[in-house]
Amino acid sequence: MLLHLVLAVVAIGAVIGIAYLVCYGGFEGPVDWAMHTSSHGSRDARQIALTFDDGPDPERTPAMLDALAALDVKATFFVLGSSVDAHPELCARILREGHELGNHTYHHRYLPLTRSRDVERELVATDLAILRATGTVPTIARPPYGGRSPWTVRAFARVAKRLVLWDINSFDWKGAPSDDVARRVLDQARPGSIILMHDARRGRAGKKPSTTVEAVRLLVPELQARGYDLVTVSHLAA
Ligand code: NI
Repeated sequence: MLLHLVLAVVAIGAVIGIAYLVCYGGFEGPVDWAMHTSSHGSRDARQIALTFDDGPDPERTPAMLDALAALDVKATFFVLGSSVDAHPELCARILREGHELGNHTYHHRYLPLTRSRDVERELVATDLAILRATGTVPTIARPPYGGRSPWTVRAFARVAKRLVLWDINSFDWKGAPSDDVARRVLDQARPGSIILMHDARRGRAGKKPSTTVEAVRLLVPELQARGYDLVTVSHLAA
């Protein structure tokens, strides 16, 4: 009886572990090797892409855009359709200032648990929101939490989106001070890196809004001193 219980727990743990490995973002897995998702650019070109997820946010996005303009670098913003509909003028400003827009779905759901038809709806609704705000449609998309599965990836392909992940997670949302966030990124930075940061905060409120902006102000000059160009995701050498 006890043995059966132990075996059942081990089996359930193994299934969850394998599902996590196959579907969850942050590191490459079998889904990526089979389906050509991008977690970094060419390792031979000294280029790095800064990416900001979950905006546009009326408080944080303008501050980030001001900082990027002062540093004179371009970045990529993976926006939520629901936030674009709430703040279309901010979405337009991102594009007008030379940055790239990417589709981050409409409601920020965990897609491996979402029906394929609904994944497609999430992407299309966000394309339409961006189209209304800017007159353009992005060519790249990033699934919330990096969550992906073979059927998710196929839904991205059906709406003509290149699925873009990251190879450096700044964990800027966790509440560490900005110099720790910058240090974590600098320790891992290498040619072709795609850095995950955020210009909005979902869920629990209260973490300092300026952390990511301050981290970017620390990071960018240091990366440039190391000879890196900061480019948009679509400008990263393939
Ligand atoms: Ni997100």
